[in-house]
Amino acid sequence: MTDESDLHTTAGKLADLKVRYHEAVTASGEAAIAKQHAKGKKTARERIEQLLDQGSFVELDEFVRHRTHAFGMEDKRPYGDAVVTGTGTIHGRQVAVYAQDFTIFGGSLGEVAGEKIIKVMELALKTGVPIIGMLDSGGARIQEGVVALGKYGEIFRLNTASSGVIPQISIILGPAAGGAVYGPALTDFVIMVDKTSQMFVTGPDVIRTVTGEDVGMEELGGALTHSQRTGVSHYLASDEDDALDYARTLVSFLPDNNQAELPVYESETELEINDSDRRLNTLIPDSPNQPYDVLEVIERLVDNADFLEVQALFAPNIVIGFARIEGRSVGIIANQPSQMAGTLNIDAGEKAARFVRFCDAFSIPILTIVDVPGYLPGTDQEWTGVIRRGAKLLYAYAEATVPLVTVITRKAYGGAYIVMGSKQLGADLNYAWPTAEIAVMGGQGAVNILYRNELKAAEAAGEDVAAVRTHLANEYTYNVASPFLAAERGELDGIVEPAATRLVVIKALRALRTKRAALPAKKHGNIPL
Ligand code: HXC
Repeated sequence: MTDESDLHTTAGKLADLKVRYHEAVTASGEAAIAKQHAKGKKTARERIEQLLDQGSFVELDEFVRHRTHAFGMEDKRPYGDAVVTGTGTIHGRQVAVYAQDFTIFGGSLGEVAGEKIIKVMELALKTGVPIIGMLDSGGARIQEGVVALGKYGEIFRLNTASSGVIPQISIILGPAAGGAVYGPALTDFVIMVDKTSQMFVTGPDVIRTVTGEDVGMEELGGALTHSQRTGVSHYLASDEDDALDYARTLVSFLPDNNQAELPVYESETELEINDSDRRLNTLIPDSPNQPYDVLEVIERLVDNADFLEVQALFAPNIVIGFARIEGRSVGIIANQPSQMAGTLNIDAGEKAARFVRFCDAFSIPILTIVDVPGYLPGTDQEWTGVIRRGAKLLYAYAEATVPLVTVITRKAYGGAYIVMGSKQLGADLNYAWPTAEIAVMGGQGAVNILYRNELKAAEAAGEDVAAVRTHLANEYTYNVASPFLAAERGELDGIVEPAATRLVVIKALRALRTKRAALPAKKHGNIPL
């Protein structure tokens, strides 16, 4: 029998591998793991196991160790350093992952942790698969100084090179502080966990010293703040399980890369108008000022009423997200009349613009559902740059070459009509419901300008001015804003009964499946930022 402790024998070498491997996967130590669990957080390995299909994870670089001598670091050189990286599958499809390990050096990023992340990102890019990062880190490793900073620079460059080539998802499961936040910011989707994740460029202490402002960590950069107020986060997860589930679902809608086909799921599409479709015929209230929930429209148009909303809490006056129609992914953008009457503002414009660009980059057809009374008026919007920032959505639609289908359900006024996937901006197939109103402005506003003298005369004659105004406004809406005028000019491809919309959209997307379009050659455009 061979002596397993003799490293000159094969059995000895295999036994040594086993020992070292065990050392690598248990490098954190029980105390650090218990501390992590006590915070309601999983370890890096547990997170990877849960994100990926069971048993699919193949680790990379588990024997990597840092080479730092500063600050007595040579005495502590755990295998794997502070990040776990590798490949695996989600719903049977290949992805690349990394998970920072807070139990080792606080998940901080030094030279070798940086190199591990860069290696797995490069692998994802060259194999054309999504990269999913799970972040939980004290940031740049303080002991390693400029070397650590440099690795961040390399990661940011790779994030940028990968943008529009492979989907990039960041799940923030602890702190992400300082310049380190810009890694996730450069990725396509950021998921945060309520009361667990924090992202900020300068922390509460620095802020207090420099500006005198007193703000807590959670309020400054917690998940709710970034999901509702800043729009940095695309999903507010209730806990880690919810965050990882959302990421898995998100991946199911995305292609592997910008040249891959979209995933196709089994679907049992009904090609007759059904009861659910018919409900849309009674959805639009008779009064133009009464809201309705556009989610109800979306859910009745897509497979299994299954809609994965993105950035639900930020700029809720516009809704974005993914669904499937006939088993194929579509990106949906819809004004939400139940929030701020569905007006467009800076936040809504930026939210939708980035989504249009994501869908376009990955050849995901876009369905736009329009009910927009116009841009939100006010000095706040004008002075915060609604011209410069609002132009992003125009730019995004105008350069999109994916299939674009637009349905106007009710209001489509002024510049907001143009920006929301109009034909003139490049949409392929545009439809309106008979309840649509398309004009330069709403009836009331138009009448105040067009009939100023008549209204004055009515007032002088002691007539009921409000009644005269309403009568004229209704007339204007009927005569000028009628969708049939747009249809007459071919600016709409059809006026459809709401109940028929699902079938119309299915057939439009089928017709556009073979769409080819190209933009003039250029290095890149100059989107207003
Ligand atoms: C080295 C670090 C570290 C770091 C944490 N640790 N952050 N080690 N470099 N950046 C270590 C701690 O020393 C500790 O080691 C272990 O990780 C756990 O940290 P704790 O402080 O005990 O944990 P907790 O109380 O939960 O606090 C977490 C924390 C805090 C809020 C993240 O550790 C912290 O403030 N760290 C520094 C954050 C920071 O300022 N980083 C630089 C950001 S700037 P032991 O051995 O005691 O367990 C940056 C620039 C990037 O990152 C630039 C890109 C261009």
